[in-house]
Amino acid sequence: MEVVITEDVDAVAGRAADIVVALLRSRPGAVLGVATGSTPLPTYLELGRRVAAGEVSFERCRAFLLDEYIGLPPDHPECYANVVRRRFADVVGLPPHHVAGPDVWAPDLSAACAAYEDAIVSAGGIDLQLLGIGADGHIGFNEPGSSLASLTRPTTLTSVTRGANAHRFGSIDDVPRHAVTQGVATIGRARHVLLLATGAHKSSIVAAAVEGPITAMVPASALQLHPHVTVVVDEAAASRLSLADYYREIEAAGPAWRPA
Ligand code: F6R
Repeated sequence: MEVVITEDVDAVAGRAADIVVALLRSRPGAVLGVATGSTPLPTYLELGRRVAAGEVSFERCRAFLLDEYIGLPPDHPECYANVVRRRFADVVGLPPHHVAGPDVWAPDLSAACAAYEDAIVSAGGIDLQLLGIGADGHIGFNEPGSSLASLTRPTTLTSVTRGANAHRFGSIDDVPRHAVTQGVATIGRARHVLLLATGAHKSSIVAAAVEGPITAMVPASALQLHPHVTVVVDEAAASRLSLADYYREIEAAGPAWRPA
């Protein structure tokens, strides 16, 4: 696991954008996994700036949503398909038909989840999966207790997660109770996982995920088993990492062979 500690939110966005741009330059038709939430938004804006500057193009890229609420109408502004279109695809010029999400409106949800797994495999798998981390350690909507072998499936959101998203809906009562999420193992199939975290409120869970035991109680800790994970955090989110100085030394030494 490569842990990159940067100064602030803007530096996290810059570093994350560097990683996405490098991928797209070497592989213009790359497959991305995209997260919603607040954390990746500065990265998406930075990528939009780089597209505008002519540094990169998303025209041939494809993207798969990490998760989607169950129970919202398809035109609801908080539907993740709409959020990703507004906050990512439109910003970077990714054609809307290149973005896929699980069909949470299908009468047979299990079949829809299996079809989503198949669609990811048919696209050649995800090259780079962007992730945020929930205060309870979730990645996607894999809440504590999720099987670390789980694939795309319907899940029930914790009250912590619903509370964290209440500001987007006006009240916690309006936040859906269920979602379809890529599973922990689905995320683990991505060739490169890029986890972003900013702010002191993420510091304890970042430390638990990166340096704590691998446990279903902290689903993000399963990333410790993945061969290519980059965790980009700001100083505030890094403040409880016991090996922070070592991560900085690795970063400062900077050779291309440094472990990922
Ligand atoms: C988003 C998602 C969630 C968020 C997490 C952090 O698609 O699946 O796991 O990444 O809840 O959210 P923020 O970034 O708002 O703190």
